[in-house]
Amino acid sequence: MALVGTDITEAVKYLDKGSLVAVPTETVYGLAGNALDTAVVAKIFEVKGRPAFDPLIVHIPDYQFMGRVAHEVPEAAAELARRLWPGPLTLVLPRRKIIPDLVTSGLDTVAIRVPNHPITLELLQLLDYPLACPSANPFGYVSPTRASHVQQQLGDQIPYILDGGPCEVGIESTIVGFDQGKGVIYRPGGITVENIEKIIGKVIIKTSVSNPVTPGMLENHYSPGKTLILGSIKNLLGHYGDEKIAILTYRDIYPEVPEDHQIQLSPAGDLKQAAQNLFASLRKLDAMDISYIFAEPVPNHGLGIAINDRLTRAATKLKSLR
Ligand code: TXA
Ligand code: MG
Repeated sequence: MALVGTDITEAVKYLDKGSLVAVPTETVYGLAGNALDTAVVAKIFEVKGRPAFDPLIVHIPDYQFMGRVAHEVPEAAAELARRLWPGPLTLVLPRRKIIPDLVTSGLDTVAIRVPNHPITLELLQLLDYPLACPSANPFGYVSPTRASHVQQQLGDQIPYILDGGPCEVGIESTIVGFDQGKGVIYRPGGITVENIEKIIGKVIIKTSVSNPVTPGMLENHYSPGKTLILGSIKNLLGHYGDEKIAILTYRDIYPEVPEDHQIQLSPAGDLKQAAQNLFASLRKLDAMDISYIFAEPVPNHGLGIAINDRLTRAATKLKSLR
């Protein structure tokens, strides 16, 4: 099992000798290693079981560091970075050669972000290299939002987990690229589209491209697990009368389902709280003795867009929960 603690100096020691460390961010926990060392980056892919064609996000300590990993920063990107970093925003920019091919899967762009978590910011400031840091879950599984989630799944493959408490945002960063200076959203996330458009004007939404993997290729990657069905819970309950099920609702309680088989993402109807609870709730449901998880979409605006994106992917992948 990994050591779990809050000792930043200890984390630096492990990272400096080429080991991986799980780190907290405001979005989800990440699996971090020296982004400039190909052997370390290869270890990240191996521990996650991630295919090499899915590139990693490079985490940097501050805005000033951006020029060391990217060149040609469009004005819109600089403006977003100045306004929203540290925060749940990832920028895709033309990369410098210092970033190994493995990090970007051979693309000529690199994804970069400054995470907003005091522990990990302090860690990044102590290092003289940026951190490649995907979400700290096995490929295809729900992202971790607690140190314990990381311990359960990757604990026997890494030496240290920096514990920064539960993640405040709870879903991954919004990924924004640029096409001739215009913003393109590749993954909805912790910063809303509305918020981004307020700063740089209208953006193009291209979220299917953010996941270059075809579902067919993914299918045999997943271990058996619970099937998540997304839809109207009322209808689903009518269709699956005798199955053992549990439900994930936005705010409603369904009296026909046993109390311990339902989770409300936010009884108060607050999308921010729903995002915070999403992944931990999916993990709880997945551990229950049931055959199906029924989930309903949340209101499709603000953070709801990112929450629905994750629910849809969990449902499309069917067996992504294990
Ligand atoms: O909130 C987050 O972003 C978390 C925390 C740990 O920072 N990290 C995270 O990383 O979600 P990961 O590896 O699970 O997701 C990274 C996503 C992938 O979908 C990948 O395809 C995309 O970023 N990506 C990376 N580099 C890219 C690039 N050059 N162009 C387009 N997409 C890229
Ligand atoms: Mg991930």
